[in-house]
Amino acid sequence: MKWTANKVRKTFLDYFKEQGHVHVPSSPLLPYADPTLLFTNAGMNQFKDYFLGKKKAPFKRATSCQKCMRAGGKHNDLDNVGFTKRHHTFFEMLGNFSFGDYFKKEAIRFAWELLTEVYGLEKERLWITVYKGDDEAYNIWRDEIGIPKERILRLGEKDNFWEMGDTGPCGPSSEIHYDLGEEEDPNQKKPGEEGERFLELWNLVFMQYNRDDEGKLHPLPSKNIDTGMGLERILRVLQGADSNFHTDLFMPIIEEIERIVGVKYSSDENGAPFRVLADHTRALTFAISDGIYPSNYSRGYILRKILRRAHRFAQKIGYEDKPIIYRLVPVVVDIMKDAYPELEEKKSEIEIIIKREEERFIDNIARTLPKLREEFEKAKEKGILSGDVIFTFYDTFGLPVDLIEEYAENYGLNLDLTGFHNLMAEQQSRARKKKQTKYDIANWTILEEGPTSEFVGYETMKAIGKLVKYSKDKDKAYLVFTKTPFYAESGGQVADKGYIEFEYNDKTLKFKVVDVQKTMGDIVHVIEGDFPKLKEPKEAVLTVNEEHRKGSMRAHTATHLLHAALREVLGSHTRQEGSLVEPDRLRFDFLHFKSMTSSELQEVERLVNEKIIENIPLEITYMPYKEALNIGAMALFEGKYGETVRVVKINNFSIELCGGTHVKRTGDIGLFKIVKEEASSSNIRRIEAYTGKKAIGLIQHKTEILEKIHALLGGNVDKLPMRIEKLQEEMRKKDEEKDKLYGKMAKLAKDSLSVHVYKDISILYGEFDGVDIRFLRKLMDEVKQSRHEEYVLILAAIRDKSFNILVYSNSPKIDASHLLKKMGRFIKGGGGGTKQKAEGGGKDLEGLHRLMNNIEVILKEEVDGHI
Ligand code: ALA
Repeated sequence: MKWTANKVRKTFLDYFKEQGHVHVPSSPLLPYADPTLLFTNAGMNQFKDYFLGKKKAPFKRATSCQKCMRAGGKHNDLDNVGFTKRHHTFFEMLGNFSFGDYFKKEAIRFAWELLTEVYGLEKERLWITVYKGDDEAYNIWRDEIGIPKERILRLGEKDNFWEMGDTGPCGPSSEIHYDLGEEEDPNQKKPGEEGERFLELWNLVFMQYNRDDEGKLHPLPSKNIDTGMGLERILRVLQGADSNFHTDLFMPIIEEIERIVGVKYSSDENGAPFRVLADHTRALTFAISDGIYPSNYSRGYILRKILRRAHRFAQKIGYEDKPIIYRLVPVVVDIMKDAYPELEEKKSEIEIIIKREEERFIDNIARTLPKLREEFEKAKEKGILSGDVIFTFYDTFGLPVDLIEEYAENYGLNLDLTGFHNLMAEQQSRARKKKQTKYDIANWTILEEGPTSEFVGYETMKAIGKLVKYSKDKDKAYLVFTKTPFYAESGGQVADKGYIEFEYNDKTLKFKVVDVQKTMGDIVHVIEGDFPKLKEPKEAVLTVNEEHRKGSMRAHTATHLLHAALREVLGSHTRQEGSLVEPDRLRFDFLHFKSMTSSELQEVERLVNEKIIENIPLEITYMPYKEALNIGAMALFEGKYGETVRVVKINNFSIELCGGTHVKRTGDIGLFKIVKEEASSSNIRRIEAYTGKKAIGLIQHKTEILEKIHALLGGNVDKLPMRIEKLQEEMRKKDEEKDKLYGKMAKLAKDSLSVHVYKDISILYGEFDGVDIRFLRKLMDEVKQSRHEEYVLILAAIRDKSFNILVYSNSPKIDASHLLKKMGRFIKGGGGGTKQKAEGGGKDLEGLHRLMNNIEVILKEEVDGHI
């Protein structure tokens, strides 16, 4: 019986289905609502809440074949990939799960039966490990399954206690290892030791605990089973291949690389680049198809790293300057499409994204490498490349450090990595500092100790607060009150404006609030003007500028609607990457890999306005973070939120965690109008839009322009674009005709030029009425063809009172551009160009004539100056 990947997968799922398990499809690689994870890294991820008892499982037994990625976070195999026969970034995990149903005994029995009776593995080659204190599992293996005790090992936490991440469900495990034979690695005598002889096939986890943030274990409400077997590994054993890579999951990719690169694959270490490319292409293909795109943040950054690592390995087999990874995508799709039909649908999108990213990287290297080589040459003497230089190339030019290291090796250079890391740390702390302190506030005067800065601005725009703390510098003062309606700049929303009033020496003082910032938990009001020296706390009336705030509210709620609309129109990969909210204006950056079409833009705009017209009331509530994620709230900055979060909900259309100020009902926004859509950085697009009064202003302005055009052109408004196109076409034709005519005229005119000679240089001059600069150029071309002596050509095209002027010189002694500049003061004009040719204009025709009559004066300076 020949085993293929498809067959091994299906046999596994069928076996567990027969044992009463529900087949649950793989979840995406992008973990759903789980900020503790970068990528889905195990079959159990999607069942986490069932294990924790937070949700009731709809079935007691499940089986799956889960797409997994281990390239960041707790489980990270990236650096091993290519150099072992069994590590991958992307892999498939076959698993069976019990949610408070069966436990150790059945889990062990199922695994044994499937491996030995269905897959038909030799029993004698299977070794077992259990957690050192787990007698129960040990006894089952020895007494019920009948494994000789020499092949059952008791190992510690490192090997036999499995955890999903730093926190979350975990438990002791039992692993089944396959003995590939002594010849595979004579040094390894048993599982648990380093080596290639024993292949860990299947991990059976007895999920019993939850690890909390402090690292403590708490028993779970029920005892569960979570198992995982690497498809690539069992396949290798069943196919009798000597590496995971030498199976039908990888070989077609490797063969395609051979074909493209024209280099033969070898299964030893020289073949590592092929294996890296094959592995990484699979990872990129699946990650992108699940909506994770290369970027500079978080998981997107890891993807970028994977792509660059793949590209560097392509270089090692001599494939330097051309993208290659994207060309492997079709093979990956072919191999995997039976199990993951969605790949085919997204194939071209995946190819485009990868190709672009590769091109960008290649470009970057090409631009940077010469500079880097210069630095290498300079560093040669010392034998070490300084941290400074590494930092510049990393930070400014975006070269990965290991790439710099590789290039440096060719020059026999070491890298001062300590210096580099110090600079990185410095930069980070600078960035942190800068973020924290927009103002350098020193010398706080504390008027009263106690709680400060209660924010009441969600409910009101005017409040009385007690000034309890302040600081003064030259022309500003910084004020902190017990409570305030002023919104401090945060979450992309700008600070409120307004004023503060209080009584002082029988007078009412009034100060304008120009900015509001949060620092160290305080809401700091920045005011301009001469602030008095106070000794006592002061009650003050704080009044927010309503007009300004309401504008911000409209723009902020519209931002939420826009975010949701983009996800609906473009797909759920469209995540927010940044935003700016000002009165009636917003800017929104989001992940999307190509520019939006005008119909997509229209649809997004229409959808947002539809929600505005529906006049939906906003529901704003506070709830635990986890609960918010459960109701599907979008958490933009993972893990940043404290326990209780503020949730802004607009029907089920948009649910976001947000601390900003919002309108009461969507109708308050009035109107939403997109102003433009453009690239912000790679794979990130930017939309700018107006709301409320600004949106209306914009529409009126544009309509007015349209009406003016209409008044000029007349006819049917709908047909204006067509008419303009037609007019442009007509103009183009006229220009062509004119050019032809100019050509003919130029042939005649070239003989009508006046000629003087000055020191063997001919000075050719001509002025023409009613033509434009294009005629002068034609004439110049004619002269160039017919004259071969040293000359300067000066031509003027006169229209009304002004004229265009063209200067051409074939003489090394006369710089045309220089000459024209000199003529400037005579002709009341000027211009510029090159040594050979310059163009410009003037207003003083008399001056031009005077000048031409005395041209020698200027030429004398030019020529003699040059000689
Ligand atoms: N969750 C276990 C693992 O990933 C099965 O190994």
